[in-house]
Amino acid sequence: MIKGVKGEGENPVSTASRKPRHIAIIMDGNGRWAKQRHLPRHAGHKAGVKTVRTCVEQCVNHGIEVLTLFAFSSENWKRPEKEVGLLMGLFVAALKMEVKRLKRNNVQLRIIGDRSAFSNKLQKLIVSAEAATAGNTGLVLQIAASYGGRWDITEAARKLAERVKQGDLLPEKVTEELISSELSFADLPDPDLFIRTGGEQRLSNFLLWQSAYAELYFTDLLWPEFRVDEFLQALGSFSCRLRRFGKTSEQVTGENPEI
Ligand code: IPE
Ligand code: IPE
Ligand code: MG
Repeated sequence: MIKGVKGEGENPVSTASRKPRHIAIIMDGNGRWAKQRHLPRHAGHKAGVKTVRTCVEQCVNHGIEVLTLFAFSSENWKRPEKEVGLLMGLFVAALKMEVKRLKRNNVQLRIIGDRSAFSNKLQKLIVSAEAATAGNTGLVLQIAASYGGRWDITEAARKLAERVKQGDLLPEKVTEELISSELSFADLPDPDLFIRTGGEQRLSNFLLWQSAYAELYFTDLLWPEFRVDEFLQALGSFSCRLRRFGKTSEQVTGENPEI
């Protein structure tokens, strides 16, 4: 079980902090990968599953604590019905196929997002896959599906409003910590490294609150092309970043400031 340390206040120069505890990835570019090969978009999504395996393996090998993968956004429901159906089918197949491998690798699986939007069959599969890996103590693998940062924040706001209505909470007691505690994965550290493949440099409604101080890493590579070398390059880039969390460089490095 990982303690809910929310990033701030650590000495960012220490060796330990040069490795991200939590990596979040927007897995983008499957459709373009398929198009380049004159294949249907779905072939790109299928190819992307292999990259998911590679990244999970790399995180396990490097002792990363949490990996959060953006698989399907709140907005992706607007895609053509056929593509949505095929993506849901792929999700079902992956949940059935991968649990054994996750268990072998001591990986705990969690799904974050609005699961009420899924079919009953998929909801049941999610519950059983999570239960089957709940006792695992290694990497926490979070799949964000039917997830949106705004959805996450809205859910938290609704829960707090309900408590105020019940007379259980005073409005002036609403703090950043309290809001954080009602968001998805409140028990885990915030993302340190935020990767997006596929060339776009935007957040697309992923982990808006939790990524407030994440280091961003963008690559033009399409998700099915993102392999071990590129993963290591992202880790290397992270290790060179000076995380100031609002302080001056001198405060962080311990050098004498000239003010
Ligand atoms: C990301 O790949 C996967 C999902 C959003 C489900 P895309 O399907 O967005 O691929 P591009 O961006 O069209 O290439
Ligand atoms: C973001 O990719 C969502 C996922 C990778 C699941 P999109 O392809 O949906 O993002 P936009 O629409 O280009 O911003
Ligand atoms: Mg895309």
